[in-house]
Amino acid sequence: MSALWDQDPDEFWTREGRARVDWFTPFHTLREWDPPYAKWYLGGRLNACYNCVDRHVEAGHGERVAYHWEGEPVGDRLALTYAELQRRVVRFTNTLKKLGVGRGTNVAIYLGMVPELPIAMLACARLGAPHTVVFGGFSADALASRIDDMGCQVLVTQDEAWRRGRTVPLKAVADKAMAAAPGVRRCVVVRRTDGPVSMTPGRDVWYHEASAHVDEDPANCPCEPLDAEALLFLMYTSGTTAKPKGIVHTTAGYLVGVATTHRYVFDLQPDTVYWCAADIGWITGHSYIVYGPLCNGVTSVLYEGTPDFPDRDRWWDIVERHGVTVLYTAPTAIRTHMKWGPEFAARHDLSSIRLLGSVGEPINPEAWSWYRTHIGAGRAPVVDTWWQTETGMIMISPLPGSGTLKPGSVGRPFVGVEAATLDSQGRPVANGQLVLDRPWPAMLRGIHGDPQRYVDTYWSKYPGHYLTGDGARIDEDGDFWLLGRLDDVMNVSGHRISTIEVESALVDDRSVAEAAVCARPDPRTGQAIVAYVTLKGGREGSPDAVDELRQHVADKIGKLAVPANIVFTPELPKTRSGKIMRRLLRDIASEGSLGDTTTLADPSVVEEIRARAAASV
Ligand code: WT7
Repeated sequence: MSALWDQDPDEFWTREGRARVDWFTPFHTLREWDPPYAKWYLGGRLNACYNCVDRHVEAGHGERVAYHWEGEPVGDRLALTYAELQRRVVRFTNTLKKLGVGRGTNVAIYLGMVPELPIAMLACARLGAPHTVVFGGFSADALASRIDDMGCQVLVTQDEAWRRGRTVPLKAVADKAMAAAPGVRRCVVVRRTDGPVSMTPGRDVWYHEASAHVDEDPANCPCEPLDAEALLFLMYTSGTTAKPKGIVHTTAGYLVGVATTHRYVFDLQPDTVYWCAADIGWITGHSYIVYGPLCNGVTSVLYEGTPDFPDRDRWWDIVERHGVTVLYTAPTAIRTHMKWGPEFAARHDLSSIRLLGSVGEPINPEAWSWYRTHIGAGRAPVVDTWWQTETGMIMISPLPGSGTLKPGSVGRPFVGVEAATLDSQGRPVANGQLVLDRPWPAMLRGIHGDPQRYVDTYWSKYPGHYLTGDGARIDEDGDFWLLGRLDDVMNVSGHRISTIEVESALVDDRSVAEAAVCARPDPRTGQAIVAYVTLKGGREGSPDAVDELRQHVADKIGKLAVPANIVFTPELPKTRSGKIMRRLLRDIASEGSLGDTTTLADPSVVEEIRARAAASV
């Protein structure tokens, strides 16, 4: 397969553009590069839903399973064939149409991992209605700000989601969000748990009622022929300010990029049963649960629940029952299984596994080896894939069967990807800032509504180079090793969280005068969030104050952003010019003196902060 790397990138992407995707109108120009904006497959017209669903049915593969869906309650499962997926997508599309959704109507989707999640995304794509999927763990405030920023008129949600045998009230959160984001005209509610919800007449409709008499015939519900550069979706992600960025992904380049990388990196075969155990609410799920695998006509697993419900062998039961051949997950999940011990995997026959993938954060060699030994029977290759919400597709990864795999290395840039590491002067060095030097098909087309921020964030530090925000090292063989973020972005369990976003959530609490947030290493989640907080009026911290602040962060952003440690301090260490000394706080947080539970005002830590601050000015 190494021949792949030797190809001319333009020939490669021209060929893949024709092979991976069906066009209503073929493209005439591969690419236009007007830095920092790229356009791909110009002149082409296509539809992502057609490519992910209809064409497979038309080609006679309607009886192939698209998703083996596993609900969280044991035994709650569904084999969704491509033909059935098509019927359900058409039904969803027609329901959205009835509610006034058409080309250019923006739709927010706030669902758990139910079949209706990919179905709703595909229905939007069918109509040319851009979507934004908001992860179910985000709070009402976070949902409202995304709805507002994108100008969504319609919201799709569900009554409640299952979570470890309990329920999470998504509709109730959506109600709060809609109160704060009044632009939403209609709210479609999928019934999942049958739990209590309140419905606002004229605005809210049950999906099962609204879709009851809707036509399911694809012939009466054509896929809109869309421009190659038509907006497919926005995915919000944290940057170095309090406001998440709406990353713009368009249709053709994105679809070709994710389908191509999915095919080569995961070495797809006719008998592949593929499982990406991420949540569709993140880019990983968009690219490698929905658009990539469906475009390739693959059979995937879609799982609603957590790895430990009802028991810690749930994943391995699913792998065994469906004969999963390719598993793609995050290091934090692998470390969690590692902590539980290999006996849960050992209860099951995992001999179907051929290939293992990792994504989201650097994988430590111990986790890499455990994954390969206990899940991959000591022989499955582990491909560690580096990419970002912004890149849309896998950018740096080993290709299975091409050379030795090194535990902890992400291998080499994909075909046509030019990656380099630069020092602060912009000179190539072996260990430096990771930048990307050449446009790729699935690259972001900007930040929604904020062109200046797009330029400032990615293109101003090294003009002409895309700044990833990561540090990396290139070894003598040309293999890349990721060293973590170099900016104010944290990575907790593979989730990207901005320090400033958590700080502003804390300062928003009426008791807080000042807050500084940083990350410390954590053996399981990669990083954990540490907050240093000064309360107003010289108030002392207390366990109640810790609870209140954690709740406040959960309300403003979501549980995923709640600090593991809150350290109350009478003041924050500052330089003479008044800047918070973040590096110092980070060093203290990383010293290991905090443990892994909440630390209250520990006088010695605070003393140390003071002492060091005093010493360094
Ligand atoms: C950041 C992007 C890409 C989908 C999931 C996260 C880190 C991602 C790796 C990897 C080391 C990685 C980087 C990157 N990251 N994959 N294989 N090795 N670090 O997407 O939320 O946009 O986060 O995740 O720091 O910049 P995201």
